Amino acid sequence: MASQKLACLCFGVLLIFVVCVLTATNLRNKEISRSRKLKTEDSQSFNSSAMATRLDGVKLNEHAVTDPDKVAHEVSKLIHMSEQNITARRKLGFFSCGNGNLIDDCWRCDRNWNKNRKHLADCGMGFGSKANGGRNGSYYVVTDPSDEDVVNPKPGTLRHAVIQVEPLWIIFKRDMVIKLKQELIMNSFKTIDARGANVHIANGACITIQFITNVIIHGLHIHDCKRTGNVTVRSSPSHAGFRGTADGDAINIFGSSHIWIDHNSLSHCTDGLVDVVMGSTAITISNNHFTHHDEVMLLGHKDSYTQDKLMQVTVAYNHFGEGLIQRMPRCRHGYFHVVNNDYTHWKMYAVGGSANPTINSQGNRYAAPNNRSAKEVTKRLDTKTNEWMKWNWRSEKDLLVNGAFFTPSGEGASADYAQTLSLPAKSASMVDSITASAGALGCRRGKPCY
Ligand SMILES: *[C@@H]1O[C@H](CO)[C@@H](O)[C@H](O)[C@H]1NC(C)=O
Ligand SMILES: *[C@@H]1O[C@H](CO)[C@@H](O)[C@H](O)[C@H]1NC(C)=O
Ligand SMILES: *[C@@H]1O[C@H](CO)[C@@H](O)[C@H](O)[C@H]1NC(C)=O
Ligand SMILES: *[C@@H]1O[C@H](CO)[C@@H](O)[C@H](O)[C@H]1NC(C)=O
Ligand SMILES: *[C@@H]1O[C@H](CO)[C@@H](O)[C@H](O)[C@H]1NC(C)=O
Repeated sequence: MASQKLACLCFGVLLIFVVCVLTATNLRNKEISRSRKLKTEDSQSFNSSAMATRLDGVKLNEHAVTDPDKVAHEVSKLIHMSEQNITARRKLGFFSCGNGNLIDDCWRCDRNWNKNRKHLADCGMGFGSKANGGRNGSYYVVTDPSDEDVVNPKPGTLRHAVIQVEPLWIIFKRDMVIKLKQELIMNSFKTIDARGANVHIANGACITIQFITNVIIHGLHIHDCKRTGNVTVRSSPSHAGFRGTADGDAINIFGSSHIWIDHNSLSHCTDGLVDVVMGSTAITISNNHFTHHDEVMLLGHKDSYTQDKLMQVTVAYNHFGEGLIQRMPRCRHGYFHVVNNDYTHWKMYAVGGSANPTINSQGNRYAAPNNRSAKEVTKRLDTKTNEWMKWNWRSEKDLLVNGAFFTPSGEGASADYAQTLSLPAKSASMVDSITASAGALGCRRGKPCY
């Protein structure tokens, strides 16, 4: 009996693995190998020659996919499959923890998640699904919450971990509150994996992902981020550079690719909670819980920065909760797949943008506030109607609650979406259970994480 169960388990894990590998291979085939010159405007906040040294052969944005609708399609397909397989597994008496959240179902049902931490890197989906983080590296255990010296950080601190050149899977020895003196400037190929510990990055500077690639951030509480800067900060073992003023974002993604932000609790910062700017692409923002904040998520920092046309961001399974006002997200130029999120609070609007972004909204639940003047989900900023009428914004299978309405546009050009119609995203009626554990999880080592 026990060996039968074990065989069953192995088979299930194998299936998931095969699907992940197939999907990854499939997506890899669609890469366009195009390296892009970085603009040096905005150079106030970085030293471009120093940055060139840091890049050290890492070509930015070379992995954007040529056909973003295909990825949206893949995601829908996977969600659809996982729904079917959960039913199948339930019949087999397996996977009783599966709730249709494709990312979570990939790892949370493993009782020994703590011993198989790097499996998380196989569980990403959407545009950021190829972010490997530190999967190919050693573990680094953060033991010291201090951040006394931002130029020569102490071994054992989070800052010492994230600046290293080699891939690292960073975990935490115990619960801690890390008050960063200055921006935490990460280097490529890092996973920050706070599962099993209650880790807060709070009341100081927060996370900067700039001109790098392959980062996974999972399970942090990030809040009360402040403006900092105007000092020298180390960003790699070989480089410390002067930093201009940091806006006070919880997570700032700048000129970077293959980034996956999953299961974090984000609130109450001076600027954005997650800002993705300056030609960043191949990004997934999933399973996060956003609360108590005005300008939640900025994807593209200005209309004139047309390089952001390459930007491809998946926003999935998040809970946009209490005390939020606007920008969930606010988009420019790129392709944005907004799928199966739960919007329970906004004061002004939920999804908006300017400069002709493509917004593919599928299977979300949008619950409008009681304010009669704020029922519209969408907002076009600073654009005449005859202009935005041409933008591709569509709502498919979204659940609109309490008088919420989504104003679509670009019907004439909607052929772009045709292929996603063939396999719809998961029903919005499932959003409640899919997003039930959005935010940092309270899992403990040695115990199942559900
Ligand atoms: C930028 O960094 C390089 C290399 O670290 C240094 O030589 C140069 O003086 C810096 N430039 C500025 C404007 O800070
Ligand atoms: C679901 O099951 C089908 C058929 O058994 C299989 O081909 C597919 O790989 C499975 N998908 C997932 C996500 O487990
Ligand atoms: C992983 O690391 C090993 C050893 O450093 C290296 O040989 C291999 O190429 C790396 N694989 C990837 C995908 O980076
Ligand atoms: C930056 O620091 C210098 C010297 O440390 C100081 O003179 C200057 O006023 C500071 N600028 C800002 C904007 O804080
Ligand atoms: C209702 O929404 C409108 C439009 O966003 C805003 O101007 C107004 O202040 C809101 N009223 C209240 C009571 O929040």
